[in-house]
Amino acid sequence: MNKSEIPAAQKAALSLLLDDHRKVKKIFKDFEKEKDVAARQRMVEEACTELTVHTKIEEEKFYPYLRDQDPQAFGELLNEALVEHASAKELITQLQGMDPEDDLYDAKFTVLGEYVNHHVTEEEGELFPKVISKKIDLKDLAQEMESLKQDLVPSAAMS
Ligand SMILES: [Fe+2]
Repeated sequence: MNKSEIPAAQKAALSLLLDDHRKVKKIFKDFEKEKDVAARQRMVEEACTELTVHTKIEEEKFYPYLRDQDPQAFGELLNEALVEHASAKELITQLQGMDPEDDLYDAKFTVLGEYVNHHVTEEEGELFPKVISKKIDLKDLAQEMESLKQDLVPSAAMS
């Protein structure tokens, strides 16, 4: 999904989520090429932090707002997203408590990347277009999402 195609009423909120998606996908891509163990571990930590913040913004702000606006249109998609988030969170918790030398460390991170790809495809291919076609006004919500993000990651204000 291209940011320039997003109407003003949805632009800020969806752009925030799209930026997160891009950023996390890049970490998974870079990880494939990285050989250094310490660097790989830093990438895993960064991806896990980013995903935890992203998931919180979606679960605490974005999804409840959409469900409230139109439960009929969004309920099923949002339920699926919540189930997928739960699987991703489980993997994130495991990775955060794991030794990077562990045999399954790379595999768990790779599978987490597959969840992320699936998540991005569903949101950008199905959920976000629906939000746009239903003309859901996200202007006020965008500010709430932004301030939650800044509370969770103080440095996000600068990036
Ligand atoms: Fe997302």
